[in-house]
Amino acid sequence: MNSETGTLFLHPDRNLALELVRATEAAAIRAVPFIGKGDKLGADGAAVDAMRKFLGTVDFDGLVVIGEGEKDHAPMLFNGEHVGTGNGPACDIAVDPIDGTSLTASGRRNAISMIAVSDRGSMLDASTVFYMDKIVTGAEGRGVIDIRLPIADNIRAFAEAKGKPVDEIVVAVLDRPRHEQLILDIRATGAGTRLMLDGDVAGGINACLYGTRIDMCVGIGGSPEGVATACAVKAIDGYMQTILHPQTDDERQRGMDAGLLFDHVYDADGLVTSDNTFFVATGVTDGNLVGGVKRLGPIIRTESIVLRSHSGTIRRVHADHLAEKWLD
Ligand code: FBP
Repeated sequence: MNSETGTLFLHPDRNLALELVRATEAAAIRAVPFIGKGDKLGADGAAVDAMRKFLGTVDFDGLVVIGEGEKDHAPMLFNGEHVGTGNGPACDIAVDPIDGTSLTASGRRNAISMIAVSDRGSMLDASTVFYMDKIVTGAEGRGVIDIRLPIADNIRAFAEAKGKPVDEIVVAVLDRPRHEQLILDIRATGAGTRLMLDGDVAGGINACLYGTRIDMCVGIGGSPEGVATACAVKAIDGYMQTILHPQTDDERQRGMDAGLLFDHVYDADGLVTSDNTFFVATGVTDGNLVGGVKRLGPIIRTESIVLRSHSGTIRRVHADHLAEKWLD
C-alpha cells in the first residue's frame, strides 16, 4: 500500500508470458500453410519447430512436463526436455503447439497454440493416463460443483449459484460417442450444449471468462490438456475439478506406479500446486477464445490471450508481423 496515496501498489515485475507469446504466435503462423490441407502431422511439426526455436530465446529454465510425448517418438519438445536459455526462473512448462491438429488439418474453427507455465515441481505429470473427466466453471462453481455427483445436480446447483435460469446455462462438451449419455443428461435439465469438435482447453477457459456464451465445460478429454487448463483457471480465478479416467487396467497400473491417484478429485490446485502460473494461447484458426491468424496484404496479424495469476491480468495481444520476415 502506498502510504501517501492510500492506493494498492503493485510491485512491477516480469510477466514471463509476455515473452512466451512470441512462441505461440510463431507456432500459429507456421501452422497456417497447413490449414485445411489434411496434413495433421505436417501442421504439428511446423508448429513444434517454430515454438521450440522461440522458446530458446526466453530467459527461463523450463522443464517440459507436458510436451509432445516421450523422447523416443518426439524429437522436439519431449517430456523432460529443458527449454529456454537456462537463465532465470526454474519452471515447469506444458506445451501444445496446436491444440486442435485435426481442426487445423480440416480447416475448422477453434485451433489454438498454447503454453502454460508454473513454478518448478508444481505441475502434475499425468502422462501415464491419457484421459481425465473434467468440469470447469467460473468462480461461482467453488463450493458448489462436485464432479462425483450427476451432471444434472451440478448444473442445477451451478445455475442457482450463478443466478441464471437452468435453461439459459450453456455447457460445452467434446462431441464424442463416449459423451452420448452425458449430452442427453445435460439437455434433460433444460440446459443447452455447445458441442466441440476438439479443443477443450479453449472450452474450459471460455467457461471461466466473463462475457462468453459458455457457462461450464465438462466431459472426458486429454489429461495433458487438463493440467494446462488448470494453469489458466488459476490465473483467472475460475474453478475446476477432474478425475483421472484410465481406459485399461494396464494404464491404471502405470498411473499408480507413477504415483497418480484414482477415484480422487484433483482440483486446479491438485493439478498445479503453485499459485504462480502463466498461460498464453494464440489462435491458429478463428475461434471463440481468440481469432485466428490473418493475412492482410504485407501483414500477418495474430491474436493471443495472455494470463498471469500473480497479477490476475487477462491481456489480449494483437500483433502485426511483417510477412516478408516469415518467408522461408
Ligand atoms: P490434439 O489437437 O492434440 O489432437 O488434441 C485435441 C483434443 O480435442 C484436446 O483438446 C482434447 O483434450 C483431446 O483432443 C480429446 O481427445 P480425443 O480426441 O481422443 O477425444
